[in-house]
Amino acid sequence: MEDQDVVSVHVENRIAWVKFARPEKRNAMSPTLNRRMMVVLDELEFRDDVGVLVLGGEGSAWSAGMDLKEYFRETEAQGLRGVRKSQRESYGWFRRLRWFQKPTIAMVNGWCFGGGFGPLFSCDLAICADEAQFGLSEINWGILPGGGVTKVVVDLLPMRDAMWLTLTGDLIDGRQAATMRLVNESVPLDRLETRTTEVAELLLKKNPVALKFAKDAVRRVNLMTYDDAEDYLVRMQEACNFHDKSEGRKEGIRQFIDEKSYKPGLGSYDL
Ligand code: ACO
Repeated sequence: MEDQDVVSVHVENRIAWVKFARPEKRNAMSPTLNRRMMVVLDELEFRDDVGVLVLGGEGSAWSAGMDLKEYFRETEAQGLRGVRKSQRESYGWFRRLRWFQKPTIAMVNGWCFGGGFGPLFSCDLAICADEAQFGLSEINWGILPGGGVTKVVVDLLPMRDAMWLTLTGDLIDGRQAATMRLVNESVPLDRLETRTTEVAELLLKKNPVALKFAKDAVRRVNLMTYDDAEDYLVRMQEACNFHDKSEGRKEGIRQFIDEKSYKPGLGSYDL
């Protein structure tokens, strides 16, 4: 079953470990992989035993970007219909991941090129190996970083860094990516899974409804005026209260004020 082999999925202790699994092709994103990712996200999104999704890569790559043969050359051979279809499939799961119900962590173990910046941005947090290598190689083969990638680097990085990566195609390693804030943290490769698990476990202790509203708010307010954001956040908190059947907000206040069992400044209340 080729479709299922290109992505591996393993759920353990409420963490869904999803990995690109075409190591022999450096996890380049083919139409088959893109279609499979959408199905995997569909299957995982509302599972009760999944609280956090981690996106990693098998082998030496996280993802070598779009598959130059299968995503570009072969779909172009089918004309505009084929091109638009493959774009919809890739952009579709990137978007789905951006607004995923559960918090998401990119665990970047190795190569991350071009189109790989799409899912990198889609993940809420990103932890990489010091040994990882990131690059916008598009310029090296004569195109601009499309598929949202230019938008990703402009959103995540200062203009000079975005321009440098775009025009030179230079590689940066994991530590440089962390200094640039392309990722949250960089750790040695042999600590990558351990550190990612720690971060996932930290998120698992938080109110899951509040996490979804909070992560969406961070992305949405970016494009709003202050007044619009203020209004949006008031309404989002009210919607969050409605959706949170555990009434976590009241419980959080109760455990602090009445029970004195925790301090919100130092950690989460007991879910
Ligand atoms: N698309 C299609 N096939 C790829 C891709 C890709 N993006 N990346 C690697 N492969 C294939 C290679 O063609 C090769 O296939 P083969 O075994 O059938 O010959 C196999 O994966 C292994 O690749 P190597 O180049 O031999 O692996 P190596 O470890 O030496 O190098 C590296 C890894 C640096 C990632 C190199 O493969 C590379 O430069 N890949 C292209 C990266 C890139 O520019 N991606 C496109 C970004 S732009 C965009 O996404 C829109």
